[in-house]
Amino acid sequence: MSLPPGPRLPSPLQLVGLFGRTVPYLDRCLERYGTVFTIRLPRTAPMVYLAEPELIKAVWARDRVNGLPAGRRIVLEPLLGPRSVLIQEGGEHLRRRRLMLPPFHGERMRRYGSLMEEIVLRDVERWPVGKPFALLPRMQAITLDVILRTVFGTRAGTREDALRIELADVLRRTASASAQVSVLLAEQLGQKVTPFHRAVRCVDALIHEELRERRRAPDLAERDDIASMLMTAHDEDGNPLTDDELRDQLVTLLAAGHETTATALSWTFDALFRNPDVRERLERSLPDGDAYADAVVEEAMRIRPTVPDVGRTLGEPLTANGYELPAGTDVFASVQLLHRRADLFPEPAAFRPERFLDGSPSTYAWIPFGGGMRRCLGAAFAQFEMRNVLRTVLEHTRLEPATGRAEPIDRNPVTLVPRHGTPAVLVGRS
Ligand code: HEM
Repeated sequence: MSLPPGPRLPSPLQLVGLFGRTVPYLDRCLERYGTVFTIRLPRTAPMVYLAEPELIKAVWARDRVNGLPAGRRIVLEPLLGPRSVLIQEGGEHLRRRRLMLPPFHGERMRRYGSLMEEIVLRDVERWPVGKPFALLPRMQAITLDVILRTVFGTRAGTREDALRIELADVLRRTASASAQVSVLLAEQLGQKVTPFHRAVRCVDALIHEELRERRRAPDLAERDDIASMLMTAHDEDGNPLTDDELRDQLVTLLAAGHETTATALSWTFDALFRNPDVRERLERSLPDGDAYADAVVEEAMRIRPTVPDVGRTLGEPLTANGYELPAGTDVFASVQLLHRRADLFPEPAAFRPERFLDGSPSTYAWIPFGGGMRRCLGAAFAQFEMRNVLRTVLEHTRLEPATGRAEPIDRNPVTLVPRHGTPAVLVGRS
């Protein structure tokens, strides 16, 4: 089988390149091989990278028959569970996705605005004044609170506190590449119960307890939090979700919905720190509405996408730059490369929200949330939340960068994160 060319380095070195120095490694591949190239990692099928909107469109148009590369399952299943909408394929995926879409519709989502503001203000109260601190952990705490409240409503009480602690613990145990490798290694060595597994069991026990209690609640059908809505939802055949299935979807929302948003927020602050003129315009624009804030969020996700690539296993052959890729090939839309193509985004290294002021970003060039039939379910929610957090922080604090240098990019298993967590200094609150 002849795949597009790519680096000829031994596969372990390609692994080090792709995960150790993601951005320069991909840049070099693009320079050398063009917008379609193949990366080979140990014990993994070849990965064909695509940085071409038309090809990405063609892949996503086939999402009905496409599958997912094995990596997504390997990295996410231990936490999310086998039935998670993020890792199911084909008809099973579609059935679950349909059930989970309604809670994310616009109007419903907008009701969370004041809750978000309240959560940010409570957290800001705890930020130290005059001492450098990392923004990323604060953003993680805020987005975790937001997603817990959105998913479970405000009634979970002490169980919500316990869930917050246990979930933060589980996520810490898989957040970095080295933590993920140690979990996978322990499994390979036959170690069935690692500290990670114990932490997952704690989360499971809390969620099952919550579900049991809710099932007895007489007003379950009237509640409008996501957990209650999913508990009362039925698929096309009239079947409700089982508790095991509910567990997987709820953990998916909690995990997918907070770490990514916190990282994107942290990158947004980093970009604002490096571009005081943009920050000034943003602060001036806030009383007049959200248009500029939305553009800032979109531009931050362009220049620093949280998820660097989005994979599919082709369900049908695809011709890419003259190469006939057979069904079964793993292809990856390179968010990272696409977002910095000068023909799609002139002066791509410049942080210029104005480029998004005149209309929505292009569906196949601006792709921080993936696309096709698997586009992020929480995309609108995430953008709404980012804009709200940004607005509340800027309106109620005087925040300065703690360093003159832009944050270097580190690679975690799934995301690109600011290496030092975006250090900042709170000069004052208002
Ligand atoms: C800035 C924040 C976020 C980013 C960058 C992000 C990014 C992504 C990406 C790249 C995918 C894969 C899409 C694909 O395969 O085409 C995805 C899927 C998903 N995301 Fe997000 N996400 C964010 C926030 C959220 C939030 C807030 C939620 C839920 C509350 C969420 C829930 C999901 C779910 C359920 C899927 C699976 C969709 C499917 O396979 O059908 N995400 N996200």
